[in-house]
Amino acid sequence: MGDRRHKSTLFLRKDIRTDIFKKTGLAKSLNAFSLITMGVGAIVGAGIFITPGIIAAKYTGPGAMLAFVLAAVVCSLAALCYSEFSSTIPLAGSAYTYIYAVFGEFIAWILGWALVSEYLFSVSAVAASWSSYFQNILAGFNLYLPAQLRAAFGTAGQPHAIFDLPAFVIIMIVSLLLIGGIRESARVNAIMVILKIIVIILFIVVGVFYIRPENYHPFLPHGFKGVVSGAAVAFYAYIGFDAVSTAAEEVKQPQRNVPIGIIGSLLIATALYIALSAVLVGIVKYTKLNVADPVAYALHFIHQDWVSGIVSLGAVIGMTTVLIVFLYGGTRLVFAISRDGLLPQLFSRLNPKTHAPAVNTWVFGIVGSIFACIIPIDKITELVNIGTLFAFAMVSIGIVFLRQNPAFKDLDSAFKVPLYPVLPIVSFILCITLMLELKAFTWIAFFVWLLIGLCVYFSYGYRHSVVRLRYQKDQPK
Ligand code: ALA
Repeated sequence: MGDRRHKSTLFLRKDIRTDIFKKTGLAKSLNAFSLITMGVGAIVGAGIFITPGIIAAKYTGPGAMLAFVLAAVVCSLAALCYSEFSSTIPLAGSAYTYIYAVFGEFIAWILGWALVSEYLFSVSAVAASWSSYFQNILAGFNLYLPAQLRAAFGTAGQPHAIFDLPAFVIIMIVSLLLIGGIRESARVNAIMVILKIIVIILFIVVGVFYIRPENYHPFLPHGFKGVVSGAAVAFYAYIGFDAVSTAAEEVKQPQRNVPIGIIGSLLIATALYIALSAVLVGIVKYTKLNVADPVAYALHFIHQDWVSGIVSLGAVIGMTTVLIVFLYGGTRLVFAISRDGLLPQLFSRLNPKTHAPAVNTWVFGIVGSIFACIIPIDKITELVNIGTLFAFAMVSIGIVFLRQNPAFKDLDSAFKVPLYPVLPIVSFILCITLMLELKAFTWIAFFVWLLIGLCVYFSYGYRHSVVRLRYQKDQPK
């Protein structure tokens, strides 16, 4: 008897209606501009300072910008779907909450678990890139770490590396800041974002004078196949616009402003990425760009060492804000899942003084730093991509189910995906196509991750789910 009830409750849906109309107590202080800066703050980070080099050298050749264009197309479609969801269901928890409402708990758990991997591995990957650029600055002062502590074991070009010490330290520092209850104010974030953009524009403006047209030939040595594989990696550089939707409960007129924030930040990032990769491959022959800090490398190559120093500093600052946003976003996601009873309550317990989820932040920070220190950067980047592409695919197809479901018909939604149902379906297919481009190792690691998630769900979440317990209480005896 009990069993039958359990089976039928696996897909229970969260009633978001009460949450939407309930006052959450959060101040509605963010406008469209602060959301755009928040989006650019979260998007533009390690990806732009690292992936163009890897993509050009390993996948596309000088046509790396085409990989960025293709990744931008996939992301814009997913961004439109995110926009419609966030405009219809303006609640914290982002995709996890949307899917809980539309597909029910089990799918929401799988998605939430995949999103945890997005945030966790992003923290690890960005910290590893932070470490490369930080060491580049130290090298400018003739300071070097022991070879064993410079990068994760197995990192290309670092035969003696065992442990990435700077990556570990920066994650611990950011965790400490977050536990201290630091509030990343919109103003500080905006200043950092402007700084990042200035540094990227500085690279483009200086670099453009050193472009050698012969470096663009052959433009696509591996053909369109290389562009698709490159796009699967370039995708990493765009991740972060989805973080805008996590702020939905703190936004004035969220139905209008969240879509503007998501799409606006994506457009700015796309323009910067295309320009930067075009200049990068014009300065240095693409075959030489498979290095951890290609932008700084290119500037050294043209003997612009002072610009390289400034760019490295800007990159380190820029990546620090990405780390803050991702560590913050990840801990808040775990917080939301734990509040729903799917993870132990320990993860949603707040520090009485700082109101930060302290245990949750420590666990997230420590696990993230361990991954950063032991998994090479290219492998972590792919792990970020697979989890995120999976989430985007689910959100895209989720739009079709959202529109079909009469329960959501009356919700006020200022933004609708155009060309419905073609765009959400194309978005879904493109996300799956890019997932298929990722390596076998990444797929295996992702399945292992999901398997661990299923064990956690059936041994804990299933029994403690707030939605299920409430449902069972409401059933006539
Ligand atoms: N898009 C983020 C970055 O490039 C992950 O750092």
